[in-house]
Amino acid sequence: MELKEVLRFADEKVFSTTGKHLDDLQEAILKEAVQGRKYAAKVAKDRGCSEGYVRVAAAELWKILSEVLGEEVSKVNVRAILERAKFYNFSPTIDSENVTVNNHVNFCQEKTRSPASPAKSEQTPDKPQIDLGDAPEIFTFFDRTPELSTLENWITVDRTRLIALLGISGIGKTTLSLRLIDEIKTQFDCVIYRSLRFSPTLDATLTNLLQIFSQTSEIPQNTDTKIFQILDYLRNYRCLIVLDDVQMLFSIGHLAGNYKSECEDYRLFFKLIAEVCHQSCLILNSWEKPREIARLEKDDRPVRSIVLSRLEVAAAKEILREQKLADEKTWSTLIDIYQGNPLWLELTATLIRELFGGRVAEFLQCEMPILDESLQFQLSQPFGRLTVAELAVMVHLANQHEPVAVSQCFNKIPYSPSEIVNAVRSLGNRFLLDAIEREKITLLSLNPVVKQYVKTQFS
Ligand SMILES: Nc1ncnc2c1ncn2[C@@H]1O[C@H](COP(=O)(O)OP(=O)(O)O)[C@@H](O)[C@H]1O
Ligand SMILES: [Mg+2]
Repeated sequence: MELKEVLRFADEKVFSTTGKHLDDLQEAILKEAVQGRKYAAKVAKDRGCSEGYVRVAAAELWKILSEVLGEEVSKVNVRAILERAKFYNFSPTIDSENVTVNNHVNFCQEKTRSPASPAKSEQTPDKPQIDLGDAPEIFTFFDRTPELSTLENWITVDRTRLIALLGISGIGKTTLSLRLIDEIKTQFDCVIYRSLRFSPTLDATLTNLLQIFSQTSEIPQNTDTKIFQILDYLRNYRCLIVLDDVQMLFSIGHLAGNYKSECEDYRLFFKLIAEVCHQSCLILNSWEKPREIARLEKDDRPVRSIVLSRLEVAAAKEILREQKLADEKTWSTLIDIYQGNPLWLELTATLIRELFGGRVAEFLQCEMPILDESLQFQLSQPFGRLTVAELAVMVHLANQHEPVAVSQCFNKIPYSPSEIVNAVRSLGNRFLLDAIEREKITLLSLNPVVKQYVKTQFS
């Protein structure tokens, strides 16, 4: 919900109960507090009064809002309570065309229906229930400070309900999400990590989640009922759920982000997570951008996406140091060639150790980039999913020495301009090509590793 909307709603509620609108000072305090900011010093400075005065006014405001909204309001929970109250006040704006679940449109009615037997009822916020399933153990973690703080902010301050953590395979999505869990787990009642690498049906995933949420109660048979039970948990408990390898839900040989027919109902589930009011967060890790994410982001839902790019040079050097490589002076070149991709660097470092005794300078004498066999295997996975038009675009780009405009691909590839444009967009959603703006023109190119892969495999 937009800040303006939250403020307007608070004012309307206060006015309808007390007959008085919020005054300027109360509005200023509320504005800062709902954005999760420390308000006392700023509001005092802006209004030329003392911080003490602002604090007293704030205490009075929380009291009024608590009375008006019927629950204890403080600076910490004011946004969540206002959003929830607004949601329960009005019908949700769910796209009815897509909601067929149980003919059950107004989820707010569900508020009073508590989960059957909450596994979490006796737990305190310091002791969240954590189930990381088969998540890999993280031994080392470097950098990613800005990404961690962005994610933390979205989750804890903005109360974002659905986040897509995106980027090419090996860039560090799994590692980052596990690190994030480690940093913020105490703020949740329940933390779950699951990989969808074997493309489970939505029903199987929901059953799995319900088994964690309610260990003792019976799991309903029906998928619709499972969805509603999950939403109940997400509403009544603060849960953080990471679903990894979401790309495995998408079909091979179609443009990026198209669900396999047997996984199509995930689309509705993710949409509900974004649109229905609850206090939890679902993170989707994927090397293909789910299509609905862009639409939901545009609609101003509590939905965000972040694309992971290369590791910082200093962090990438730490990876090479761990691998005990020599010739530190040449490491920056190596990092640049392998795009600061931690997995590509790890695989290449192993090759350098095994064949060149760890001497990076000697390895760099070879014609670059050398693609280790396991690196080729890594790249074969996204490439195995491309449409023929996408592959044709990649082959065309791999043969260019300079970045080219999209229109320069027309007539060079045996596909219509529409097919080429769609293919380019889809490749962007797979993070396989680089697009830069130069003099108001979008120019496309491939990074050296991907270029080399295309040349060796498809030319
Ligand atoms: N920030 C990081 N610091 C150190 N190693 C990292 C970091 N991010 C990723 N790695 C390493 O890179 C490899 C690939 O990371 P992973 O998270 O599995 O990528 P993705 O999930 O995007 O495919 C793993 O071996 C991981 O240990
Ligand atoms: Mg991963």
